[in-house]
Amino acid sequence: MASFSTLSVVTRRLEGKVALITGGANGIGECAAKLFSKHGAKVVIADIQDQLGEAVVRQIGPENSTYVHCDVTDENDVRNAVDKAVSTYGKLDIMYNNAATIDFGAHPIVDNEKKDFERVMAVNVTGVFLGMKHAARVMIPVRRGVIISTASIAGHLGGTATHAYTCSKHAVIGLSKNLAIELGQYGIRVNCVSPYALATKLSKKYLKLDHELFEKMSHDKGNLQGATLKPDDIANAALFLASDDAKYVSGQNLFIDGGFTVFNSAMQVFKEPES
Ligand SMILES: NC(=O)c1ccc[n+]([C@@H]2O[C@H](COP(=O)([O-])OP(=O)(O)OC[C@H]3O[C@@H](n4cnc5c(N)ncnc54)[C@H](O)[C@@H]3O)[C@@H](O)[C@H]2O)c1
Repeated sequence: MASFSTLSVVTRRLEGKVALITGGANGIGECAAKLFSKHGAKVVIADIQDQLGEAVVRQIGPENSTYVHCDVTDENDVRNAVDKAVSTYGKLDIMYNNAATIDFGAHPIVDNEKKDFERVMAVNVTGVFLGMKHAARVMIPVRRGVIISTASIAGHLGGTATHAYTCSKHAVIGLSKNLAIELGQYGIRVNCVSPYALATKLSKKYLKLDHELFEKMSHDKGNLQGATLKPDDIANAALFLASDDAKYVSGQNLFIDGGFTVFNSAMQVFKEPES
């Protein structure tokens, strides 16, 4: 398989494109920023962790990437990030709404604080809404663009995360479907990706697991055996949706979950025969 650095022009699937990635300083967003850049895109990384974001730009190369401080809950910040992409690189082709947060340790609803619920909704839902709104603002006039958001298996199933996080990811999927309908008339595609649990700062802190326990979780609780979900698996799915390979894909939620969400463990009829 070709390494990122040896990708030829033929295999560079985002050549000439401009992408803005929220939550691009870390985890899945950082991985997507690096992958999109290897595929020829100019990348704007928008995050609240300035030092990490600037370090990602140094790794990608400042000629191909830019960092902008952007709290996705603040409309001025989001407007500014989109305008920065356009003023720096001339356009915005790909908006990847990936930033999110979670309310650590809040499970029983009677223990949930309203302010914690609202904080998660502000980042995970309002933040995605603002990213979509300002991307659409610059994409509609040119009748071109792709909007992707990171949802989760928690946007489809109950009982996999806190109430606020579950609710927020259901909302991201709903928003993506609705916007795909509105923006279809302009040739703009809108999709989301929904990962199973993988080891990143956010999930390690939430589930209190290290890398090894994550691998074990994939194997013990996941459906697909012999593979462990990594940030580049999500980045690759986002790359597909961002690229012209997905030119007729819109309104979809692509699960990267090894079949977890289509599996009902109560009705297991395919048990491996005992040896
Ligand atoms: N890790 C998992 O198991 C998992 C599973 C399903 C979905 N997801 C989703 O994947 C996406 C990326 O998460 P990750 O796992 O890479 O976590 P992460 O913590 O590594 O990255 C999240 C990034 O979002 C940024 N961020 C947080 N609040 C922000 C704000 N208000 N404005 C701008 N940026 C902000 C953080 O600074 C960080 O860089 C999220 O949408 C998350 O919900 C993760």
